[in-house]
Amino acid sequence: MNYKIEIVTKQDIKAAADVCARSLGEDNRACAEIDFALHLTDTPYPPLNLVAKTADGLVVGTIQSCISYFGPKVRGIAWLCVHPDYHQQGLGEALLKYCENFCQKKFWNNEAGSFVLITKNYEDFYSKRGYKTVAKDWCEKPLMMKNIPTKS
Ligand SMILES: CC(C)(COP(=O)(O)OP(=O)(O)OC[C@H]1O[C@@H](n2cnc3c(N)ncnc32)[C@H](O)[C@@H]1OP(=O)(O)O)[C@@H](O)C(=O)NCCC(=O)NCCS
Repeated sequence: MNYKIEIVTKQDIKAAADVCARSLGEDNRACAEIDFALHLTDTPYPPLNLVAKTADGLVVGTIQSCISYFGPKVRGIAWLCVHPDYHQQGLGEALLKYCENFCQKKFWNNEAGSFVLITKNYEDFYSKRGYKTVAKDWCEKPLMMKNIPTKS
């Protein structure tokens, strides 16, 4: 199936939160709705909120990237979610790659930067995609980072 990845619009917020609730659990819906409503484009380091849509415009995947506690050259990855009916088709990887490329171009002027995330069940998924475990948080969840070199 063909998907398009786009920046979240106001009209997508509830659908994005629905994908997060279905893939992560209902107790994530309210928090996802708040996070995907963040639209701070006039700030120096705005959050990047993306959705993947089917050809019919159905939101089936999400991802968010914000600057992290390490500073603007290290962006966090959050809300990487794919609707359960659309798993295992490469959409999670496509969202992650799109987000990494977009951030490098838009926020780092194609220079080097890094991504950081905390995951519970997906250490293998991220390590296959270039992330390395650099620490564990206080709940023993791996903190993973990926360094992206300057684009030649
Ligand atoms: C993580 C997620 C976005 C991947 O989406 P996807 O579209 O199925 O991903 P892809 O098709 O690109 O890749 C599938 C990979 O996910 C892995 N995967 C699928 N279900 C998994 C599970 N329950 N636990 C761990 N890994 C899983 C597969 O092994 C596969 O890995 P591989 O290609 O390296 O062998 C999706 O599984 C999801 O929404 N999970 C629930 C939400 C979540 O926990 N997100 C936070 C991650 S920190």
